[in-house]
Amino acid sequence: MELQDFLQDIARGAGQIIKDKYHVTKIWRTKSSPGDIVTEVDEASEKYVMDRIHQEFPNDHILSEESGASGIGEPDRVWIIDPLDGTRNYMMGIPFFCVSIGIARNGVPEAGVIYDPIHDEMFYTERGKGAWLNGERISVCNEVTLDDSLISVSWVKRKVDRKRFIEYLDNLSKDTSYFRRFGSAALATAYVACGRLHAYLQGGLNPWDVAAGVLLIEEAGGVVTDFKGNPLDLRNPDIEILTSNPDLHEMLLNQVMGIRK
Ligand code: IPD
Ligand code: CA
Ligand code: CA
Repeated sequence: MELQDFLQDIARGAGQIIKDKYHVTKIWRTKSSPGDIVTEVDEASEKYVMDRIHQEFPNDHILSEESGASGIGEPDRVWIIDPLDGTRNYMMGIPFFCVSIGIARNGVPEAGVIYDPIHDEMFYTERGKGAWLNGERISVCNEVTLDDSLISVSWVKRKVDRKRFIEYLDNLSKDTSYFRRFGSAALATAYVACGRLHAYLQGGLNPWDVAAGVLLIEEAGGVVTDFKGNPLDLRNPDIEILTSNPDLHEMLLNQVMGIRK
C-alpha cells in the first residue's frame, strides 16, 4: 500500500472507532490538570493507529498524545499522532473532532492526514503534492482584509502567556469581529487549508495538534509560523500557531503581533 493510502486507511479506521462510541457514555479521567481529559476512546483509537504503524513500519518512531514519545528528536521518520483531537467536544456530544496523523523528519512535516468521522471529511497532503479534501484539491482563501476575515482564536490556560495573548486579541478586535473557537486545533488547521477559515491563531499547543495541519496549509498555499513569524518546529513541545494566506499573515504579524519585517 502507498504511504498516503496507508495514512488514510488508518485515519479512517480510527475514525470509525470514535464514531461508533459517539453516542455511548464514555469512561474518562483527568490527565496533567483539571480540564485536561482523556477517554477510553482516545486510548482505543491510539492503540489501533499505533498497532497498524508498528505492524507496517516496525522501525519507525512514534510520538502519540496518550503514550508519549519514542524518538521525536530522531533524524528518522516520526509518526505524530493525535488519536482524537477535540476530546471535550466529543465528551459533550458536539460533533466537531477528528483524528490527526502527521509524518515528520527533523521536526519538518512530510505528510499528513486529518479525518473528521462525523462529516466523513478526509483532509490529506504530502510534501510537493498539494492539499486535498475527499479527492478535491483545496487551497486557502484569498481574503485580504481583516474586516471581513473569519478568524479562529484560542489559548490554553495551562501553558500560555495570557497577558500577551490578550494583547493580541485586543489588537485583533479593532479590525475584525468574526471570531470562532472550535475546540479542535487540527480541524481548525484543516479549515484554514480549505478556505473555510481565513486565519487561525492559538498558543499552548502540542506537536500532535498541528503535525498534519502545518503541511496541509502550506501545500494549500498558506503560511504557518509562530507568533513571531518563525517557522514551526514539530520537536518543540509548546507550539504557537499563526496561519492564513500570505497577505493576511503579514498583516496579522504587523498589526496584531507587532512584528515588522
Ligand atoms: C485540544 C484541542 C483544543 C485545543 C487544545 C488541545 P485534545 O486537543 O485541540 O481545541 O485548544 O489545546 O489540547 O486534548 O482534544 O486532543
Ligand atoms: Ca489535540
Ligand atoms: Ca487528543
